[in-house]
Amino acid sequence: MVHLVGARTAGGFLARNTFLWGVAGAGHQIEGGNVASDIWLMEHTQPTAFREPSGDAADSYHRFEEDIALTASLGFNAYRLSIEWSRIEPERGLISTAALIYYRRVLEAVARAGLQANVTFNHFTVPRWFAAGGGFERREGVEPFVAFCRTATEHLGDIFDLASTFNEPNLVALLQWGPQAARIRALFATQQAAAAQASGAPDWRSPVLGSFRVQQPIMVEAHNRAYEAVKKASGGRIEVGVTLAMNDERSAPGESAYERKLSELYLPWFAAQGDYIGVQNYTYAVVGPDADLPPDEGVELTQMNYPFAPEALAGAVRLTASRCRKPIYVTENGVATEDDTRRVAFIDGAIAGLRACIEDGIDVRGYFHWSLLDNWEWFHGYGPKFGLVSWDPKTFARTPKPSAVHLGQIAKADLQRRAKA
Ligand code: BGC
Repeated sequence: MVHLVGARTAGGFLARNTFLWGVAGAGHQIEGGNVASDIWLMEHTQPTAFREPSGDAADSYHRFEEDIALTASLGFNAYRLSIEWSRIEPERGLISTAALIYYRRVLEAVARAGLQANVTFNHFTVPRWFAAGGGFERREGVEPFVAFCRTATEHLGDIFDLASTFNEPNLVALLQWGPQAARIRALFATQQAAAAQASGAPDWRSPVLGSFRVQQPIMVEAHNRAYEAVKKASGGRIEVGVTLAMNDERSAPGESAYERKLSELYLPWFAAQGDYIGVQNYTYAVVGPDADLPPDEGVELTQMNYPFAPEALAGAVRLTASRCRKPIYVTENGVATEDDTRRVAFIDGAIAGLRACIEDGIDVRGYFHWSLLDNWEWFHGYGPKFGLVSWDPKTFARTPKPSAVHLGQIAKADLQRRAKA
């Protein structure tokens, strides 16, 4: 087993030049009981945009040891997780030492299992008090987020080497281009209003439902400042990036808003501070004159209603490399399906495409599959199954699917080959 002894020395684990083969998850989607967050509140408003509440989720809050050990036993060498701001700072300025100790225990378990942690400071959820104050639709939102990243790094930064500030800060923008944009806009406005009423905070703004035009410049600033804060608090050691929701963007024949879409969704983030770009890809989009075109009749759709497209990962990686010189980690890629044989096929297609990118000289440093566990898929609740591992809703007992073993073997074989090389 790889042990992280020495990993805290100059350059850390990443300096070994090891490819990271990992699984990804996010606190709110797997931990359960994230009650001080904006999204928990919105799951319980009338009306709500969420199909069902997250509740106990996969109870990873208590079962993290088991999930981490399982990840290592399958053959992976990395684990992506988010630390929940609303647990660490449940009220503005009130830092929970117990929550920091909890995440220290989680990160220590990751290190003990021989895994490299990839820490996301913000995976969509924010504390209620932050949303109540207008979230990232106000410049005043920058400082509390930067302070949180600084505090978390001061307490935990000695036990991880890789981090991202935001998970998919461009997601709201991406959704605006899709065929469902008008419906989504209306749904989000209704949900923000319901949350404002339920919280008694008329300025309530949840970033995940936010106005991208107002929010994006403020989030870029928050990211840039958080980048500096984490670098400084870690003596420059932690590699910090941002992860982006990225389609394999394809231009429709004839008139296409392709370039405008890139300049809205991706270019500001490629140009921002960062040691790497996290590519998160699930499908492709065909960009028409002013929006994405609906998928062609007859194409296979996943449970998320977008095309099953393992080849799209290579498209998103190549798009990133063509517009940005930073190294790339694939921080999410996966498929929602009840049919695990389709997940195996998806993995094979996606990895083949990724290998071709690497052979062509693109600097790809890791692949994190979404997700280790079936989990709470935001608006869709527990419907879509993205996990390599299922769990029993009554006992929470974990059962790896054949796809978990399959991807684990791919990871193991590649790591062995690299170790010999
Ligand atoms: C998010 C995850 C989500 C996944 C699958 C990404 O947008 O980062 O939280 O579960 O895609 O939809």
